[in-house]
Order: sequence, then structure tokens, then C-alpha cells
Amino acid sequence: MTKGAYDVVLLPGDGTGPEVVHEGRKVLEALMENSSPRLHLTEVQGGAQYYQKHGSEWEPGGRERATKADAILLGAVGWPGVSLPDGNIAGHGLVLGMRFGLDLYANVRPCKLHAGVLHRIGKEFKQVWRPENVDMTIFRENTEGLYSPAHGELSRGGATEVVLDTRIITQKGSERIIRRAFEKARATPKGAPEDGVRRVTCIDKSNVLKGCQFFRATFDRIGREEFPEIERDYAYVDAFTQWLIRQPEHYHVAVATNMMGDIVTDLAAALQGGMGFAAGGNIGDEHAMFEPVHGSAPKYAGKNQVNPFATFEAVAMMLGWLGDRYHDPSLLELEGRLHAAIERVLAEGTAMTYDQGGNVTTSQAGDRVAEAVRSSKPAASPSAREVAA
Ligand code: IPM
Ligand code: MN
Repeated sequence: MTKGAYDVVLLPGDGTGPEVVHEGRKVLEALMENSSPRLHLTEVQGGAQYYQKHGSEWEPGGRERATKADAILLGAVGWPGVSLPDGNIAGHGLVLGMRFGLDLYANVRPCKLHAGVLHRIGKEFKQVWRPENVDMTIFRENTEGLYSPAHGELSRGGATEVVLDTRIITQKGSERIIRRAFEKARATPKGAPEDGVRRVTCIDKSNVLKGCQFFRATFDRIGREEFPEIERDYAYVDAFTQWLIRQPEHYHVAVATNMMGDIVTDLAAALQGGMGFAAGGNIGDEHAMFEPVHGSAPKYAGKNQVNPFATFEAVAMMLGWLGDRYHDPSLLELEGRLHAAIERVLAEGTAMTYDQGGNVTTSQAGDRVAEAVRSSKPAASPSAREVAA
């Protein structure tokens, strides 16, 4: 069903979140000039700083508005020294609350290095990996594993003696994330940069952990029965961390349980030039929330310095997801135009923020990309599509 108009809730959150969401909005508005699909953008306040002032994580009615939206764009949450009475970070409800509450079971992290982007390993800015060799998508399970709300503690006489975090791996949870990963591999015929093979790598610790043995057996069954044309590949998570860095070209799609996926996706961000370029989609069957994954970066808050490209990538993923979900090619066209603009501006090197050795501000980078989308044509598909699917 094509709707023609979509409700998008922006959750700027804390720290640098509002700065990057502001730029994301600027770019979205530039994209929508003279275009038929309308995104109605509503901002909802919430997060740790909001909690500090008002004693609640959300503005009144905010959670309900986010829940009803067609899609959510989140900035970042978390502020030093502000936590909830249960010890969780304030702002937890906006991230984990939405992931669990809306059943956003797939945390999708494309990892693509754009031409023109440098790595920062140590103090130097240099190119370590070639752009054509870094183009993968990691699927992280997002609603169970070690993040399951199955925690406990044993206190006696006021002293905590034992704490427990129970890792829950279910059949339903494993099947649906694994299926998503294989579907992605099927939908991107280009395959891995190394050899063009469509491949899904199962990241686990099945040499030790029961839950991982179950996850891997589920991976094998689904792969064999439903996706026989896709290569099945395996990596113990410890070894994966070094293979990822040594031979990123081998990877096309990878799938992992929640906590392991959390760790390896931050590492993968180094391949694409740092957290400033890393965007994630929290995707369910009915709802989705997109975010730059760099967090609130309190040290940089209010300085107009951080890199907004992760947010532009998150906006592109959001357009792609909405376009697919509502079969709306005009949204997919906007997505393609945004990808083309991002690629052009990065290749020109005219919007590099401090993390890339440049001195362009957050808002100037937003201006450059907004200008570029006004004159952009869709990137040659299907490659642009592949990033967000
Ligand atoms: C992420 C973040 C979150 C997580 C935090 C903010 C709860 O690190 O999206 O990767 O641990 O999942
Ligand atoms: Mn993380």
C-alpha cells in the first residue's frame, strides 16, 4: 500500500544527537522540495537530559507518538552521571525500550567505505582499506541474548553478593534474524568484494556456548533449506575480530547474537572511517527506528563539530525501508538521490569534519549535502539500493 504521506518522529535526544538530527532534517527537507511523497516530521523530546530536568524520559505523549509513527529517526541518548533508579542509563527507554516495545528484532549495520574517506588508526589519517573492499552488512539480533530483561541479583544484609545476566537465545529470535541476513544476501547479487560470492557468515562462539550451538544449527537449517544458493560461512567471534580487519573483502553479510553483534559492529565502523559514518537500522516487521550509532558524545556536545554523515546514512536507510514497506518508488528515488549526494560530497572532500582531519562544521557539512541533493540524480541502482535494503 503506497501512502503518499508518512509520519516520521525525530528523537534528537542528548548531547550531539540534536545537532546531527538537525542536519538530517535539513537534508530531508531539501530532498522533499519538489517531490511527491511527503514526510511529516515531528520532534519528540526525551532522553537523559530531559529526564534530568523533568523526571521522565519522554515528553508527555512522546512515547505514544513515536510508537504510532511510520518510522523513527533517533539522534543519541545518554549523559554522564544521569541514570535511572534501576541503574540503567537515562534514555534507555528511547533505545532499548523502543527495540523491545516495537519488536525491532533486526539491528542492521551496513558497513561501506566511501571513496574519499580516511581511516584514523593511531594519530594518522590515512587510507588503510580500499573502498571497493569494504562493503558488507552485519545483522545483529536486537531483542534477546544478553540484553534480555532476565537479570537478577542476590543481596544479603544490604550487600550484593551475586549478579546474573541471563543470555536467552530463542528459536523464533534466531530464525527471524538469520532469515533477514540470508534475504539480504539474496537481494544483493554483487556478493562479497573478494570474489563476488553471496555469502552469510555466522558469528558465534559455538565451540563453547550452548546458545551459540543452537544459533549455528538454526543458521545451518535455514540456509540449507531456504537459501541453498547462498554460501554459508562461519567464524568464532574472537577470530572474526581479526579477520574482519585483515580481510574485510571476504565479508558480504554477517549475522550475530545481540551482545556479540554490538561489539563487532563498532569494530566494523573503523573499516568505514569511524563512528561518524556508521548508521544502524532497528527493524521489525511493522516498525523501524534509524540512528547514527556514535552516541551522544558529551565532549563534543554544542560545539558544532561532529560528523553528521552517519545521520545522513540513517536517513537514507529510513527512506529505503519506508519505500520497500509501502511499495513507494518515489521514496526509493529519494533514497537513491541521497546516496548519490553523499557519495559525491565525500569524494569531493568538501565536507570533512575534524574526525577526517577537516575543519568543516556539522552544519556546513549539512549545507553541502543539502545543496548536493537539490541537484542530485538517483545513484546508479542497484548498488545504492543495496546499502539500505
Ligand atoms: C548500540 C548502543 C546501544 C546498545 C546502547 C546505547 C544501549 O551501543 O546501539 O550499539 O548497546 O545496543
Ligand atoms: Mn553499541
